[in-house]
Amino acid sequence: GLPTAVELIEVSPRDGLQNEPEFVSTEKKKELILQLSKSGFKRIETTSFVHPKWVPQMADAEQISAYCNELGITYIALTPNVKALERALSVGAPEIAVFIGASSAFNQKNINRTTDESLAECAPLFALAKQKNVFIRAYVSTAWHCPYQGPVSFEEVHHVVNRFVELGADEIDIGDTNGEAHPQEVFETFQRLREKYPKAVFVGHFHDTSKLALANTYAALQAGIDKFDASAGGLGGCPFSPGATGNVATEDMLTMFDKMGITTGVQLSRETVAYAKSLSTRL
Ligand code: HMG
Ligand code: MG
Repeated sequence: GLPTAVELIEVSPRDGLQNEPEFVSTEKKKELILQLSKSGFKRIETTSFVHPKWVPQMADAEQISAYCNELGITYIALTPNVKALERALSVGAPEIAVFIGASSAFNQKNINRTTDESLAECAPLFALAKQKNVFIRAYVSTAWHCPYQGPVSFEEVHHVVNRFVELGADEIDIGDTNGEAHPQEVFETFQRLREKYPKAVFVGHFHDTSKLALANTYAALQAGIDKFDASAGGLGGCPFSPGATGNVATEDMLTMFDKMGITTGVQLSRETVAYAKSLSTRL
């Protein structure tokens, strides 16, 4: 049967805001994180230690992390390279996330590296993170479809997942970056991954461009997945994935899980959803 409890990881401060054209002030980001911190999430993805020239919106990663430390919450910060990890370590981030696309064309645009160049850089990154006892989330982006390459094969996904497993990722997050996946292929991918890696922890990360994110969530549930990323108000989008819209809305996920009797431990107020939406010019 389906899982009776799931973990919802809130990503609106990071995925939700990273593509906003105007800088959202650090104070406003802190207010969003404060409200989310009272909503019952065990973990929140709050920022990215990426290059401020590439993603100016995340230029306040150090200040945001210091604030999360003050709040005492468990947060995830994106760290695409060793330089990023060093920045995250210097502020004491408890959890980091690397992100590599299954599609090499996507990686060239997003992180200026091919897939194999990025995977090579992950070896010293994982080693350092492990030495510092940091929890490692590893994203496989463009797991079904790439905005530059088109359809993505299971073999390309498997290539990255396999390396993440070898390197000892604590969880592997499978991303439908541009929201083009459909439930049948989502089910198949997760079923095959769970067959090949029964001990690995997988997460579903769905964007809602085709309005299939909830259906994809249900398909992943049927394949045994019990961790999902979501974003309050449905904010989100990757600057290097043209045309993609937001992540699946946390409030929609909660409606579905609550009706199905699947517990999340999360209670998101209408005020917090409204506040998240007020920060976005893209909805
Ligand atoms: P690069 O330009 O190739 O970096 O950027 P480099 O290694 O060639 O270094 C060039 C200069 O940048 C050097 O400085 C470095 O020190 C500096 P210089 O010596 O010239 O003075 N540098 C940095 N500075 C600050 N922070 C850093 C850093 N790294 C190097 N971390 C890089 C490579 C990965 C940094 C760049 O491409 C980048 O920042 N990309 C941003 C990508 C991004 O944020 N994408 C959105 C998140 S992914 C996503 O949304 C998908 C996801 O949601 C899942 C899904 O939906 O599927 C996660
Ligand atoms: Mg995303």
